[in-house]
Amino acid sequence: MTAPAPGPVIDARGLVKCYGRRTAVDGLELRVAAGEVFGFLGPNGAGKSTTVRMLLGLTRPSGGDGEVLGRALGDPEARRRVGYLPENVHFPGWFTGMGFLRYHGALYGLPASEVRARAGEALERLGLAGRGDDPLRGYSHGMLQRLGLAQALLARPRLIFLDEPTSALDPRGRRDVRLLLDELRAQGTTVFLNSHLLSEVERTCDRVAIVADGHVRYLGPTRPDTGAERLLDLRLEDAPPDAERLLVGVARLVRRAGVRWRLELEGADAAPEVARRLVAAGARLHELTPVRRDLEDLFLELTGAPAAEPEPAEPLPDAGEAQLLEPGVPS
Ligand SMILES: Nc1ncnc2c1ncn2[C@@H]1O[C@H](COP(=O)(O)OP(=O)(O)OP(=O)(O)O)[C@@H](O)[C@H]1O
Ligand SMILES: [Mg+2]
Repeated sequence: MTAPAPGPVIDARGLVKCYGRRTAVDGLELRVAAGEVFGFLGPNGAGKSTTVRMLLGLTRPSGGDGEVLGRALGDPEARRRVGYLPENVHFPGWFTGMGFLRYHGALYGLPASEVRARAGEALERLGLAGRGDDPLRGYSHGMLQRLGLAQALLARPRLIFLDEPTSALDPRGRRDVRLLLDELRAQGTTVFLNSHLLSEVERTCDRVAIVADGHVRYLGPTRPDTGAERLLDLRLEDAPPDAERLLVGVARLVRRAGVRWRLELEGADAAPEVARRLVAAGARLHELTPVRRDLEDLFLELTGAPAAEPEPAEPLPDAGEAQLLEPGVPS
């Protein structure tokens, strides 16, 4: 058994990246331990891909410092032990799947015979067995993403960065990636995952960071609230116009989509009082369900922007536009 790495596998200390007058990453602090499956979340343009590119040495930080696998950012020795699936991979159409992997294997400095064996294995693992000799111009979007994942695994990395690995994948492909992440976890590989699919992140990641405007706003467990049920979902008709004011002192409106309301309770046993006040004001309360705060709630609170996943699947009788409230983020 290999001894665990002494320090963090990723150590970012005050990373900054400016593009002209725009600050994409603004003093980002992050440490990821060996063997973690770590989710890196944030709204579009938050600085996630830029951070990954700095950690990989693909773009030079404007400020701050860091280490990956105990070495300075961009160190070639560390780079050989790191796998990377970029968010936009360039796939020359004339390559075959196998040719693409062999080319990347050679870039990693692997011997040709070893690359052939590993490439065959990787194609098989990503559901592309039998398509390795086809030119990439004939691959579908999801097939290219699978190939990108195969490429990222080729060097059997100790650390792998996956920037939106499942955005083009069908449900089976997403499940395959989940299983793959479980395998990597079992092998002790550290995974750094950028994703907007919060339900997937909840299922796979040990810890997450949520970034907004280039800062880390949350760093902690994937399930942010394991304590008391503090949220309440209501199905409410004929709500009085001043319902929010009526609830002051017992609950706060988190969001509302038509008759569906989500409230955050101000006390552990405030639910009966919420029901009493609403009913007394003439509202018809059809459902009242305590729910746990999930990653999406946290994301929405911290970023003030909608997550990429759709709102409730079931049709609502008079669902209007979802209303998002101002973020309650302390600045
Ligand atoms: N090469 C570049 N030149 C100029 N601006 C850039 C460049 N790369 C990124 N940016 C800017 O930096 C900010 C962060 O971009 P980045 O790609 O890191 O966001 P992201 O969090 O990965 O977003 P997404 O979820 O959309 O992938 C954005 O405002 C973007 O326009
Ligand atoms: Mg990105």
